[in-house]
Amino acid sequence: MLNIKKLSVKVEEKIILDSISMDFELGKNYCVIGKNGSGKSSLAMAIMGHPKYQITNWELKIENWKLKIDLLGLDPNERAKLGIFVAFQHIPEIKWIKLFEFLRSIYDAKNESTTSFLSFKKIIEPLMKQLEISMEFLRRDVNVGFSGGERRKIEILQLKLLEPTYIFLDEIDSGLDVDAFKSVVKMMAKLNHDKNSFIIITHIFDILKHIPVDHVYILEEGKIIKEGDQKLVEVIKKEGFINIEKK
Ligand SMILES: Nc1ncnc2c1ncn2[C@@H]1O[C@H](COP(=O)(O)OP(=O)(O)OP(=O)(O)O)[C@@H](O)[C@H]1O
Ligand SMILES: [Mg+2]
Repeated sequence: MLNIKKLSVKVEEKIILDSISMDFELGKNYCVIGKNGSGKSSLAMAIMGHPKYQITNWELKIENWKLKIDLLGLDPNERAKLGIFVAFQHIPEIKWIKLFEFLRSIYDAKNESTTSFLSFKKIIEPLMKQLEISMEFLRRDVNVGFSGGERRKIEILQLKLLEPTYIFLDEIDSGLDVDAFKSVVKMMAKLNHDKNSFIIITHIFDILKHIPVDHVYILEEGKIIKEGDQKLVEVIKKEGFINIEKK
């Protein structure tokens, strides 16, 4: 269980999240929707521990084996080790770092291991085959010059490698062509099971046909203005956010 209680966040003196409370339970999926600029990506960044997002009020706990851990004060890499993962809306390039080395170091950090070149090759190659990613990408700098769809596949590869539990998907459905969308969504649906939880941030609700959610949160100006089950999405699709009756 990941509990967020009254989370408030500032960036450069501007309040962008205002007393947000949410609970994410393993085995359940969630959706966070709202107009552009309502605070959805900021929420994922703050939970992951991005240093730009200054927490002013906070209770963020993760429960592992009945042990409650306060995430405050933990670096993003420590949060990642506890199972939190964010698939970025805008996937960054990392120059001068080869994809193979990047993947090997996140794998070793997660497992507290030191994997040899050959052993890691044996781990990564079958996963790349499953995702139909050419082995040539391993020799390239992380995401440098990769297309949007290729970057997405590399993120899914990281998901397969790390097997995180609380998975924030920030608009993973945008910028993909029809076929890439279908294949990405199919891969994501396969990765979803009762020991993890997807938190889907989207403007294109088609993804929910393949990965249904148990609970929907609507954000506006950094606040939750309404929540409910997936039927709420149907209302938004018809009426938009403007006419929504606030809770
Ligand atoms: N690093 C930052 N520096 C300055 N302002 C920021 C930063 N990050 C977020 N903001 C501001 O916080 C608000 C919320 O932004 P955020 O990216 O979370 O919105 P969003 O709901 O994800 O929007 P979209 O649907 O367009 O992706 C916006 O007004 C944005 O300009
Ligand atoms: Mg966003």
